[in-house]
Amino acid sequence: SSSSSNSSTKRNLIVVSNRLPLSVKRSEDGSYLSSISSGGLVTSLSGLTKTTSFQWFGWPGLNPKEPEEREEIRRSLSAHNAVPVFLDERLAQAHYNGFSNSILWPILHYQSGVTFDEEPWNAYKKVNEIFADYITEAAQNGEMIWVHDYHLMLLPQMLRERMTRKGRSPCIGFSLHTPFPAAEALRVLPVARDLLQGMLSSTVVGFHTEDYRMNFAESCHNLLGAKPQDHMIFFKDRLVRTGKFTVGIDPGKFTDTLKKDDVQDRIQQLGERYKDVKVILGVDRLDYIKGLTQKLHGYEQFLTEYPNWQGKIVLIQVAVPSREDVKEYQDLETQISCQVGKINGKFSHADYAPIIYLHKSIPFSELAALYSIADVCLLTSSRDGMNLVAFEYVACQEQRNGVLVLSEFAGASVFMGNGIIKFHPANTKEISQSIHKALLMNKEERKERYGKLRRFIDENTSAKWGHDFVEKLSAGAQ
Ligand code: G6P
Repeated sequence: SSSSSNSSTKRNLIVVSNRLPLSVKRSEDGSYLSSISSGGLVTSLSGLTKTTSFQWFGWPGLNPKEPEEREEIRRSLSAHNAVPVFLDERLAQAHYNGFSNSILWPILHYQSGVTFDEEPWNAYKKVNEIFADYITEAAQNGEMIWVHDYHLMLLPQMLRERMTRKGRSPCIGFSLHTPFPAAEALRVLPVARDLLQGMLSSTVVGFHTEDYRMNFAESCHNLLGAKPQDHMIFFKDRLVRTGKFTVGIDPGKFTDTLKKDDVQDRIQQLGERYKDVKVILGVDRLDYIKGLTQKLHGYEQFLTEYPNWQGKIVLIQVAVPSREDVKEYQDLETQISCQVGKINGKFSHADYAPIIYLHKSIPFSELAALYSIADVCLLTSSRDGMNLVAFEYVACQEQRNGVLVLSEFAGASVFMGNGIIKFHPANTKEISQSIHKALLMNKEERKERYGKLRRFIDENTSAKWGHDFVEKLSAGAQ
């Protein structure tokens, strides 16, 4: 009804995520510098800032003791409507690295062999409580609260309890940015029930795909005895709405960047540098779920199976450093650089190397230029909530109509249908053949596929995603 949409526009919104859009670091001279954070969550929520105003609460990544220093961080973040949730450093480490990234993340992505520990779990609970205290304090005026991702699964419950005690009626949304695994995989975690109950205290729970949503409903049924019906779940006298909300990017941000003179110069320069070869691009956080090992195996197989392409193809792989305090990520980095070295050693000539490997994050304009010059984008995730790099590549390919080669285990592949070349990431031969197919694809077919992908990313923007979710949330709160 019109009255509900009126009230939805009047209610203010609070967004909560572990990571803020800006990462704050202390420079050598003692001042604080902020840079844009990487990862899908930041990409999608940053796009939303264009159309919706909200206050964004999150962990700033550091915890100075001096009140003046905290104030300085607060001030610099407030220019971006962001509010820091300060956490004791050891506690933050145990929550972020100990539980979220070493225990929960692997389970959400079907990695077996996880051992549960009480200490990181306690830190996880404690950090969720600290967030709950901050948000309860900040949401005194009936604000809608939208909680994001696996670091904060207990937060909806803690918020609901606190707010109900104060006689307020909470309106809490929760969105997961990772896959939600099958009940049998989740059950490996002894505290799975606590996490499910935490999420079920929301008004609306959102997922990237219908499969993830169904896995969640099944887990609630199997592990908690909750009753899923249609897109709702009945649990403890409450009705929780669940839904699939297709997340996206802000394509205009890329199109605008590509128009800039310096970016055009860079595109020309790169075009000149790679004029005699085809370019395959990979952009991934350095994470085992991105299947980089498999990608390199597949590429090596391609060079072996189709030797005519040696000397005529370059893989530019950007691997953005991520979670470097976690051992699995350190080991992976060693393994990848070793693999890159091996392949380059085998196929290089004095004037040619098949892989250019960048283990760093690169400026946004450089990223846009790389997306735009690449003939193929190759993404090999073994599991991936959505994968917005796939969208970003499409946003930059209006001219070239390059080919997107995407793992069937990335959420995005569900939506991109026959616009992409889809493959099984554990099948090395299939990766190699998919690369070959992409390189040989003629202009008409590329154009046709591109048109579909372009329409999809233009229709499913991050702004639309945010708008749809908030609409659903305010309707649920009536
Ligand atoms: C994924 C997660 C996000 C996370 C991002 C970057 O996209 O779903 O919640 O922010 O990775 O990881 P980081 O550990 O740096 O926050």
